[in-house]
Amino acid sequence: MRIDIVTIFPQIFEPVLSSSMLGIARQKGAVEFFVHDLRDWTDDRHRTTDDYPFGGGNGMIMKPEPLFRAVRELAAADARAPYVLLTCPQGRRLDQRLVEDLAARDRLLVLCGRYEGVDERVRDVVDLEVSIGDYVLTGGELPALVIVDAVTRLQPGVLASPESAEEESFSWGLLEYPQYTRPASFEGRDVPQVLLSGDHKKIQQWRRLEAIRRTALRRPDLLRTADLTDEERAFAQRVIDEYRNERKEPDRG
Ligand code: ADE
Repeated sequence: MRIDIVTIFPQIFEPVLSSSMLGIARQKGAVEFFVHDLRDWTDDRHRTTDDYPFGGGNGMIMKPEPLFRAVRELAAADARAPYVLLTCPQGRRLDQRLVEDLAARDRLLVLCGRYEGVDERVRDVVDLEVSIGDYVLTGGELPALVIVDAVTRLQPGVLASPESAEEESFSWGLLEYPQYTRPASFEGRDVPQVLLSGDHKKIQQWRRLEAIRRTALRRPDLLRTADLTDEERAFAQRVIDEYRNERKEPDRG
């Protein structure tokens, strides 16, 4: 997969793209990153990328011309047509389903918006606007890195074992089950016995139920779309009921 990023802060990217799993993915050739300075597509002496909003108001707006030029020139730079993203708080909220959709494409081009906004006409060359959550950042650079990270780890050959992505409870639509490492006993806190049993079937069952328990307690909204058997659904409901009963005020008669 090829990923192009267009930004007015290219220096933010290299340290992240060359570290840890992203760096390894890149070395292995599972993904190619190209970071571009939007100012390369300006045509004035000051390399201006923003301007005042028509109608007045605070903040500066990203000008359309450099962004249009960047998208057109970069699209022509490779036989694969890019799927063009714009990071902005009004976009579609990123979740693992969207990450999987993006990861299956052969080329992405990410335009990093600035917080005050981009000229509305830029949306004509954008395929999808993406938000990473309901909070406002100073710019779209960190969101772009979040997207790139989530998409890269799903590229073939990036994860140590290809099952790790599928085995993750998040791909079941659930939160992650509790994990432990050595020592088996630490300051009086013991690792659940089943994990030391060596019985893989039992361990899988335990993990699945703990993932359901945790999801029921922390993110019950996720249960609506999670793929659960009737029995598992009943278990989730019992967890929720027990929790409610525990919290009920004692009867004063
Ligand atoms: N730019 C500023 N805030 C953002 C957010 N939450 N997601 C994507 N882009 C943004």
